[in-house]
Amino acid sequence: MLLKFLRLKQRLISFYSQTLVIPSIRKFVGRIRLFYFYEIKKRWQIVSSEDAFNNTNKHNLKSLKNFDMYSRMDLIIKPISVLEFLDHNSKILVIGPRNEGDLLSLVGHGFPNKNIRGLDLMSYSPLIDVGDMHQTQYADNEFDVIISGYTLGYSKDPKKWVQESIRIAKSGAVFGVAVEYSNMTSEDIKKLCGYEIVENGHQECNSVKEIIDLFDGYVDHVYFSHDAPSKRSHTSEGLVDKPSRICVIFTVKK
Ligand SMILES: C[S@@+](CC[C@H](N)C(=O)[O-])C[C@H]1O[C@@H](n2cnc3c(N)ncnc32)[C@H](O)[C@@H]1O
Repeated sequence: MLLKFLRLKQRLISFYSQTLVIPSIRKFVGRIRLFYFYEIKKRWQIVSSEDAFNNTNKHNLKSLKNFDMYSRMDLIIKPISVLEFLDHNSKILVIGPRNEGDLLSLVGHGFPNKNIRGLDLMSYSPLIDVGDMHQTQYADNEFDVIISGYTLGYSKDPKKWVQESIRIAKSGAVFGVAVEYSNMTSEDIKKLCGYEIVENGHQECNSVKEIIDLFDGYVDHVYFSHDAPSKRSHTSEGLVDKPSRICVIFTVKK
């Protein structure tokens, strides 16, 4: 009887986890959890980073409650979810998830909750640690997978981030790194947003090659490469409907 009950419980948990692959269900669950932890439990922390551009927090706070950007994270999460050498035991770190959307998506794609952590400058969630990606609290060789979705562009010192990520990644770990394709200058961004994000003269990664080069000899095997094939960029005049994205998934050797 007890065994039957435990099996049923396991099946229900597994069914619930699989439903999180559906964006509308994920959004619903994400919003309820955000309401609970942010509004009721008042669980909120925010820190700044000397290696992040000045308006990083101001800019990202505006979309804390946005769970609709799933398609750009699908570009990283879906290919990672089918890599045959990752499994239930793989320990995953998501850098810059902003809210729980990316983490719930990973659960939906078959990775158990208990092995997934988020790291961000801001957090309301018990699943997201507060900290700076350039200098983290994690042990050496801790993670099997490190995901950085649309976060690299806020760093004044991407090489420092790479060194820190390599430190906490296991040898053979999978990295999934994505950035939005852009041909805007820092002046264009300032005109569009009303404030500066990237400092004048800073060279952002804008191709797969530039991301690979940033990892300076650590890249072992590239499994997936999406190099902004349509080259669509926002402009200083406004946002385009579907900006192009750059994503590369690779293993590292240490
Ligand atoms: C554009 S959001 C990406 C959210 C989500 N991954 C997506 O693509 O929809 C970037 C996130 O990176 C976080 N971030 C920026 N600089 C960071 C740093 N130095 N350390 C940790 N997180 C950082 C921001 O707070 C923000 O939540």
